[in-house]
Amino acid sequence: MAARIRETTYYANIGVADLNGNLVCSAVPLSGRVNVADRSYFWRAVTTADFAVGEYLVDRVTGKGAINFGYPVLDAQGHVTGVVYAALDLAWLNDFAANADLPPGSTITVLDRKGTILARFPDPDRWVGKTEPEAPIVAAIVKGGEGTADAPGLDAVPRLFGFVPLRTGPGETALFLSVGIPRAAALVEATHHLIRNALLVTLFGALALLAAWAGGSHFLFDPVNRLIMAAERLGRGELTVRSGLPHDAGEFGRLASTFDRMATALEGREAQLEQAREAERQEREHAERRLRHTQALHAIDQAITGSLDLRLTLAVVLDQVVAELHADAADVLLVDPHSQELYYSAGRGFRGNTIMAYRLRFGEGDAGRAVLDRRTVTVADLTKAADFVRRHLVEEEGFVTAFVTPLIAKGQVAGVLEIFQRRPFQPTAEWLEFLETLGGQAAVAIDNAALFQGLQRANLDLTLAYDTTLEGWSKALDLRDKETEGHTQRVTELTVRLARGVGLREEEIVHLRRGALLHDIGMMGISESILLKPGPLTDEEWGIMKKHPVYAFELLAPVAHLRPALDIPYSHHEKWDGTGYPRGLRGNQIPLAARVFAVADVWDALRSDRPYRAAWPQERALDYIREQAGRHFDPAIVEVFLRLVEHPAQD
Ligand code: C2E
Ligand code: SIN
Ligand code: FE
Ligand code: FE
Repeated sequence: MAARIRETTYYANIGVADLNGNLVCSAVPLSGRVNVADRSYFWRAVTTADFAVGEYLVDRVTGKGAINFGYPVLDAQGHVTGVVYAALDLAWLNDFAANADLPPGSTITVLDRKGTILARFPDPDRWVGKTEPEAPIVAAIVKGGEGTADAPGLDAVPRLFGFVPLRTGPGETALFLSVGIPRAAALVEATHHLIRNALLVTLFGALALLAAWAGGSHFLFDPVNRLIMAAERLGRGELTVRSGLPHDAGEFGRLASTFDRMATALEGREAQLEQAREAERQEREHAERRLRHTQALHAIDQAITGSLDLRLTLAVVLDQVVAELHADAADVLLVDPHSQELYYSAGRGFRGNTIMAYRLRFGEGDAGRAVLDRRTVTVADLTKAADFVRRHLVEEEGFVTAFVTPLIAKGQVAGVLEIFQRRPFQPTAEWLEFLETLGGQAAVAIDNAALFQGLQRANLDLTLAYDTTLEGWSKALDLRDKETEGHTQRVTELTVRLARGVGLREEEIVHLRRGALLHDIGMMGISESILLKPGPLTDEEWGIMKKHPVYAFELLAPVAHLRPALDIPYSHHEKWDGTGYPRGLRGNQIPLAARVFAVADVWDALRSDRPYRAAWPQERALDYIREQAGRHFDPAIVEVFLRLVEHPAQD
């Protein structure tokens, strides 16, 4: 703007005011805050949103007499956001008048609509700024319209006047120009030529002023306004905005070029920033996704270690698959090694039950192919897939894409993990990688469960084998002594019933049962001459006989599986009163299993023929058991025994 007023001769200043009238920009440097809200050109430009011409004023920035033009600054919606103003330097008007070629004593006057003299030739210092609306000539001029008058001038000299209003807007007249020629001169020369000349001068003056305004409007206001609007839009973040002005060599061309380059640079910078922000956002999302993936794997790990139920673990795997891979449906098919087929084991997100019914042979369908090829099979469009075994499934479920990854544990394909989407889906490398990771976890889960199942079966097999072996042994033992045949079986059954009556838990009874079966296994160390001796034993023979519980202990203790069953073989000849063998334990020192067993064993021994005596009748044997309560036997157990024998139905 400063450059602009240097280029022209007729502007004292150019500036921009905001909507409150505060000058925000001025070609002539401001010495303090300046407000123009009270100036008519300002508020008229604001209220009419149009070009406005003010009245004569003394410019607050330059101190010069001036007539100011206001030009509204409009935003994209046509709202006024400020005013550009130009102060027309009235000194220039005086110069113009002084240089006009007129007869001596002539005057040129410029008036505003209030009748204030803006310019006068001659004697500008005397007249400019004066307001004389009452003077007849002033009244005639200010009334409007073009015309001539024969009247005294302001200095009382009679003159012939020609005058013309200068329109400054629609229906608005702001300035008036008049030329006066002394009547004397007019009479002396008295030619029409002279009058016409005076009017021509008037016209020229008017045209010059109009040219100044038009120039102001087109060559000053318009580019200024466009730059201001562009700057405001730029300030609001519309970085694509450009001045739209030619980048020519002039002041505005250079300014426009600078502005446009700045806007381009800003736009580029903003694009870079946006890119950087996007990259950062992606990085953050990526990190979050990795964290969630890690958490998903951890959840699966916990399920694998925390549960040996494969269906439970696979349910956790599938939950994570659906959540982390955004699968619409997912399932695990397992390999049936006998039929070489895949069958459904667990699923998520299926609408119907069709998936459960399929059995796919290896190589059949996409799942079968994943097993044979041992790699992930991707079907981008199931509706167009040639290898279309599960057409019904795909149609019923509305699946569009499928991913099938083989579950390989220790080199063996144990099954497949299948992911279905009901929409076209383009996986990222990260997605596929995570699918295979989850597949690996599922494979581990299946392998673990298989191991456990195998272990359980082996354990069961072993247990069965043990117990069968034990029964075989006990029968062999019974057979050694024909007359005790069936004794062990009977004693074992009675011991178990007694144990239940006494309140032993089932897992203790398992061991108690084995102990009963093996109670006289120590007899294997006793020679048949003692074992089958028809009469009473000598002291020496007794000494040997009493070793049979110790033999049992020595025989069974090294077998971990039978250790918990040792109580009976080792302690079944201990007595409640401490007179038993081999250790002479008394009361509760004697293991409960052995105390229970002793009652059953003696009862059955007395009721059986022995090589050394015949079987006792029931009453005698019962009397004996009753009588031995608190001596040989634990009285509490005798009580249970008697109830059992007397009321077998209550067992
Ligand atoms: P067993 O014949 O199976 O007897 C087991 C237990 O039942 C005996 O333990 C004893 O407490 C009781 N019992 C069996 N028969 C009688 C009996 O006639 N009277 C009485 N009061 N109690 C009887 P025990 O006494 O420690 O004997 C352990 C094993 O030693 C017997 O097993 C048997 O094989 C053998 N035995 C005991 N006494 C004789 C005997 O007089 N002659 C022979 N040849 N063997 C005997
Ligand atoms: C001023 O007054 O000095 C600034 C411009 C104006 O109001 O005419
Ligand atoms: Fe015994
Ligand atoms: Fe016995």
